[in-house]
Amino acid sequence: MSVHSEDTRKVTTYRLMEMKKRGEKISMLTAYDYTMASIVDQAGTDVILVGDSASNVMCGNTTTLPMTLDQMIFMGKSVAKAAQRALVVVDMPFGSYQGNADIAVASAIRVMKETYADCIKLEGGKEIAESITRILTAGIPIMGHLGLMPQSINKYGSYTVRAKEEAEAEKLISDAHFLEDAGCCSLVLEKIPAKLAEQVAKELKIPVIGIGAGGGVDGQVLVVHDMLGLTKGFSPRFLRRYASLADVMNDAIASYVADVKSADFPNENEQY
Ligand code: KIV
Repeated sequence: MSVHSEDTRKVTTYRLMEMKKRGEKISMLTAYDYTMASIVDQAGTDVILVGDSASNVMCGNTTTLPMTLDQMIFMGKSVAKAAQRALVVVDMPFGSYQGNADIAVASAIRVMKETYADCIKLEGGKEIAESITRILTAGIPIMGHLGLMPQSINKYGSYTVRAKEEAEAEKLISDAHFLEDAGCCSLVLEKIPAKLAEQVAKELKIPVIGIGAGGGVDGQVLVVHDMLGLTKGFSPRFLRRYASLADVMNDAIASYVADVKSADFPNENEQY
């Protein structure tokens, strides 16, 4: 199976809006390197996120906080080269936009200039209003991110479901409207009650993409290493695994090791 969508035109922020209007669900996956991004793109994914979840899956860190702007740009460049059709979104890493609006706009310009990505994503609502406005004023599209915001994990103290209480839910709704009114092109909602996510998706005109936010939103995002079964230890309720690639790779590598040890590899046809 290759491209699922008949439409092979490049996905733009405008086309994401059109998809929402006609009720077509948006598919989004992460990728952090050229080879994986090529596969994700050719399989018909609408949006590729160069997520700072690379900190966990690529670097072995326990949080997303250590990622630097240089590291995100390095990955963003590789992914943007691979994506023929998908919209490429690069996460702004922790520390690259929270300090002040000057730092934020300089970081966002570096991402766009050096990676050739289409859009950036950042976590937060009104508390980073100035940074959001300045980045948008520079003509850079922003995908917002509310609900569980992994860059604030030390404030929350746990990765539990967010916005279950009324006060936090009300703040989330108000932040979502703020992001839309400011001019953000789309919004990710992470690990919040499905009913709340559905309400936000209904109230907003911009596409709302969920992870652990139920089926009432405009699209879904997963970390590609998790859904392919390359990672094993992480099994939240929202994660559907579509393959067990870690097992496939383990078997292949074990066969290779055995073949080398037994001198079965290389054979006569595999040499010059
Ligand atoms: O970094 C990431 O992969 C993300 C998704 C979980 C939305 O932000």
